[in-house]
Amino acid sequence: MSQHQELKKVTTESLRLMKGKGRKIACLTAYDAIMAQLLDEAGIDLLLVGDSAGTVIQGLATTISVTLDQMLYHCRIVSRSVKRALVVVDMPFLTFQISAEEALRNAGTLMKEAGAEAVKLEGGSVFCNVVRRLTDSGIPVMGHLGLTPQSIHSFGTYRVRGKTEEESDKILEDAIALANAGAFAIVLEKIPLELGKRITEAIAIPTIGIGAGPHCDGQILVTHDMLGLFTKFHPRFVRHYANMAEDMLTAFRSFSEDVQEGRFPDAHESY
Ligand code: KIV
Repeated sequence: MSQHQELKKVTTESLRLMKGKGRKIACLTAYDAIMAQLLDEAGIDLLLVGDSAGTVIQGLATTISVTLDQMLYHCRIVSRSVKRALVVVDMPFLTFQISAEEALRNAGTLMKEAGAEAVKLEGGSVFCNVVRRLTDSGIPVMGHLGLTPQSIHSFGTYRVRGKTEEESDKILEDAIALANAGAFAIVLEKIPLELGKRITEAIAIPTIGIGAGPHCDGQILVTHDMLGLFTKFHPRFVRHYANMAEDMLTAFRSFSEDVQEGRFPDAHESY
């Protein structure tokens, strides 16, 4: 990261300018302090405190039971660990769907009590009233379309979304509606790359892809996936930049053997 980049706080406005300049936006998820500090130091532009915490931190099968309190806990830790990156937090299932008022109260709590700089919510034009209510109240909103994990039981499958013309047109319409409602960016998850391109060209706000091809304005991955730490399944869109599960297993086994064989601690590690 250059010194210039280091000093400049990322904002929703700077993300918009990045899209204008064709500067791709790098985003990853964060849930704890050490990881957030390292991601920030590496120059990651946007840290998402994702409700993927349900799967990669809590070991659950889906994100559905993640609570507002859990997001508050993770977001507080991440927001106080970061100097440059924009901190966006997921609104968990049923914290924004019931009414725009309830969504405003919950999003406001995430900002006031946990230092979130923006919130993300899953879903299309049906939530435009919520997006408008939040943005009118000074809460930046990131949309999330395509394979939205909180709707997994409605989809019934993790397959690629937007493959039929009808579904693809609906996702494009939703993206335009969210942008018109005031969203500052939209995550596009697991859709064909041509659809990622169409949406990116159709809207003025940045698109952040996860399995949505190379034409999006930015890319996001779950950090535990790209580190090779979460290995239960490996979707095609995840590139492993490390094999941390293997490295950690090796370290833990070595420690266990050293303790059992009396090799740890040695004289230098003792007082
Ligand atoms: O919860 C999350 O980590 C997400 C990303 C997969 C975009 O929503």
